[in-house]
Amino acid sequence: MSRIYESDAWQTLKERADKANRPHLRELFTADPNRFEKMSLRVQNILLDYSKNLIDDETLNDLLDLANEAKVDDWRRRMFQGDRINITEDRAVLHTALRNRTNTPVYVDGKNVMPAVNNELARIKKFVNQVRRGEWRGYSGKRITDVVNLGIGGSDLGPRMVTQALKPYADDRIRVHFVSNVDGVEIANTLRPLNPERVLFVVASKTFTTSETMTNAHTARNWLMSSAFDERAVAKHFIAVSSNKEAIKAFGISAENSFQMWDWVGGRFSLWSAIGLPIALYLGFSQFEELLTGAHEMDIHFRDEPLEQNAPVLMALISIWNSTFLGYQSQAILPYNWPLARFSAYLQQAEMESNGKSVNHKGEVVPHTTGSIIWGQLGIDGQHAFYQYLHQSNTIVPADFIGSVESSTPVPGHHENLMANFFAQTEALMNGITAEEVKEDLRKQGLDADEIERLVPHKIHSGNRPTNTLLLQRLDPRTLGALIALYEHKIFVQGVIWNICSFDQWGVELGKTLAKKILPVLTGKIENAGHDSSTSNLIRHFQEQRIL
Ligand code: F6P
Repeated sequence: MSRIYESDAWQTLKERADKANRPHLRELFTADPNRFEKMSLRVQNILLDYSKNLIDDETLNDLLDLANEAKVDDWRRRMFQGDRINITEDRAVLHTALRNRTNTPVYVDGKNVMPAVNNELARIKKFVNQVRRGEWRGYSGKRITDVVNLGIGGSDLGPRMVTQALKPYADDRIRVHFVSNVDGVEIANTLRPLNPERVLFVVASKTFTTSETMTNAHTARNWLMSSAFDERAVAKHFIAVSSNKEAIKAFGISAENSFQMWDWVGGRFSLWSAIGLPIALYLGFSQFEELLTGAHEMDIHFRDEPLEQNAPVLMALISIWNSTFLGYQSQAILPYNWPLARFSAYLQQAEMESNGKSVNHKGEVVPHTTGSIIWGQLGIDGQHAFYQYLHQSNTIVPADFIGSVESSTPVPGHHENLMANFFAQTEALMNGITAEEVKEDLRKQGLDADEIERLVPHKIHSGNRPTNTLLLQRLDPRTLGALIALYEHKIFVQGVIWNICSFDQWGVELGKTLAKKILPVLTGKIENAGHDSSTSNLIRHFQEQRIL
């Protein structure tokens, strides 16, 4: 079915969503004492509670019908077996093969990819051990103490997020730094305190053509040369991760110092490949393997469990219900784990670059929304910033709350405080507080009737605001691997149901092409011509006001 929005399941859901007077979440809980038992499940070390969503048994059944109509099980099988489901780039989608710890063969065009995956993992292991043991030395014979990853988007966000998330599991052997922005401030600030004799640069770019990364890579090389004065130093201080062998060579990095990527690994799903090198360098290879194992275990859950007991499928269906049917355009990701500070930024690319599309597989414009605006930050800090909006504005923002039973760095008195807020927030968003409850409260405080009347409307919380709770046992490498894979598969299922291609990103190309044309204008190589009056006057202002 290419037009899922013409299916019966879609129509039924639309009617349900359009119905006036759908029951308040509070009523749904009162009506069904087993709601939590029915609408929660445990996968590995993660408890997923989806009971605080605006769904009842019937809606859930209709959503599952929709998943069946969209042939989610068939697409799932096709992804795992290496079919070319990235139809606009004619590629397989096999990040699952990168963490296929059982090593069962996975074929692309009749060739098992696992030997190549394992070979690359063995090379990563060897290299990581050499660097961490101090056997890999810089040009002057000193051991490496700092790794600087030069990459952007999928070649940055994953390793950056994971290294922060797993900081409590790192030792002090290697420090990691990330430079993604082409604003020179970032690389200048990063390099200033570092000693070139002890720095290893990882140039991470699947294409090895991304202008931000290549500009940073050239600046890094010049910085090294201003200390080493010998091109041979590049071999000691630069590692490449890419699928573009020619471009790596042209930059001056040898094949021994490069790690491979394959066209069947999308950038935003690539942290499991050599793009994860900074993770392994920072934490050690065995922790990196734990991360892969956790993701693999989630893959097995996603691949084998029936749709109604499948965590990524359920999260995808609820998200589609919230966005496409109920019209809630954004989704907040709110971790109550300090190490997950960059998780929402990571998911922003994963979901928005994957599902921010407007045509189906046949190229027809779809008449409904796809994807969500993903945003968020650490929940506890958000409470003192934007939660007012979440509780009382007219815009409903479904949110995922992520917390853990155990802290990865226990400090007396802290974790309970953090988690009390975690549990309180989803309860408050669900229940709200009625006018009667507010009045009662104010009466108890001794306020007079007029004052109560004046304050009541300002203090009401309507509640009925949907949330998911993901309660981890603890944020360790294995659980983090599972958590990331859970969201990856959620995004995949969403794309399948909307019938869009989640694995390309043509929408980022136009801006890149125009920037390429404008750069020679800014460097004075060609005339400022051919732009609309706004753009050309902005460029002129930049040129005229610039003090060189
Ligand atoms: O922003 C577009 C994009 O192509 C992303 O999909 C990708 O993760 C990023 O740029 C970096 O690409 P590369 O790894 O090829 O430098």
